[in-house]
Amino acid sequence: MTREKVTLVEVGLRDGLQNESTPVSADNRVRWFDALADAGMKRIEAGSFVSPRWVPQMANTDEVMAQIQRRPDVSAEVLVPNTKGLEGALACDADVIAVFTAASETFNRKNINCSIAESIERFQPVVAGARAAGKRVRAYVSCVVGCPYEGRIAPGQVADVVKQLLELGADEVSLGDTIGVARPREVHALLDATLPLLPIENLALHCHDTRGQAIANIYAALDRGVRTFDSAVAGLGGCPYAKGATGNVATEDVLYLLQGEGFETGVDLDALARVGHEICEVLGRSNPSRTGKALAAE
Ligand code: HMG
Ligand code: MG
Repeated sequence: MTREKVTLVEVGLRDGLQNESTPVSADNRVRWFDALADAGMKRIEAGSFVSPRWVPQMANTDEVMAQIQRRPDVSAEVLVPNTKGLEGALACDADVIAVFTAASETFNRKNINCSIAESIERFQPVVAGARAAGKRVRAYVSCVVGCPYEGRIAPGQVADVVKQLLELGADEVSLGDTIGVARPREVHALLDATLPLLPIENLALHCHDTRGQAIANIYAALDRGVRTFDSAVAGLGGCPYAKGATGNVATEDVLYLLQGEGFETGVDLDALARVGHEICEVLGRSNPSRTGKALAAE
């Protein structure tokens, strides 16, 4: 029997490490990227080309991209906020270029210093340039259920932003529950509003586990047919512009769920968990992944 595939997009080395108080060396980032690829991850965000004044932790992304092993079956992805970022991404031949905005005006201003409308305008040449260079474009929408400044976000508000990103030419949209407030009922409402806008294979869900609901939310989305999920090894993450936001859902925990549900991911959970342990050791912290911890105790 062939098993149905689920694609995981590993965001820990970008979404996670961008929040570390001490920047992580390029050598460590390169080693972890290669180890995640060895474990079977097929899509890995290597970093971002953003202002080093805003996010100094990602300043060495060009070095990381130059040193990682490039494999034909592993997509090395980067995040960019503007055309300057696009130049960096194209110079290092990133496979996927991601732009990012939010469904909340206030969050967007804190994150990229512009309104949602201005961000869409800013992305126009970025998406066009990336596509002209033959790159796939991912578009993130943050705060799709709740915002630390504006409270609950209506699904229709998210759908509006998604429509505009698709009109620009984004190939894929990732919906981010940036502050981890969503529960399955809200995920269903979000999917009701957004799934009619694009082929389901072009939609990803990006959960944070702040309130312990990430796995329940992923399970709900799986039930609706979503097959792409973002996650971070060892649950790395948080968000500098969302106080109290804990990490992204841990890749180890998602893999454990997917294995149990009979999905194919191509990832070796034990190998991936070992990378998570090494990262936690280097960062000097305990591993927030429940599955990661349980595997270490076996
Ligand atoms: P600004 O200050 O309004 O822009 O920042 P600016 O155009 O005036 O530029 C300021 C300085 O940054 C200038 O340098 C530019 O050259 C430089 P100066 O002349 O002052 O020396 N600069 C750049 N340098 C390198 N690469 C660039 C770049 N652009 C400008 N691409 C800007 C606006 C968007 C640049 C800034 O706000 C920024 O970089 N923000 C990034 C914030 C960020 O990375 N946030 C985290 C990612 S989003 C996220 O994590 C959520 C997500 O994971 C999903 C979820 O969890 O919900 C995606
Ligand atoms: Mg995130």
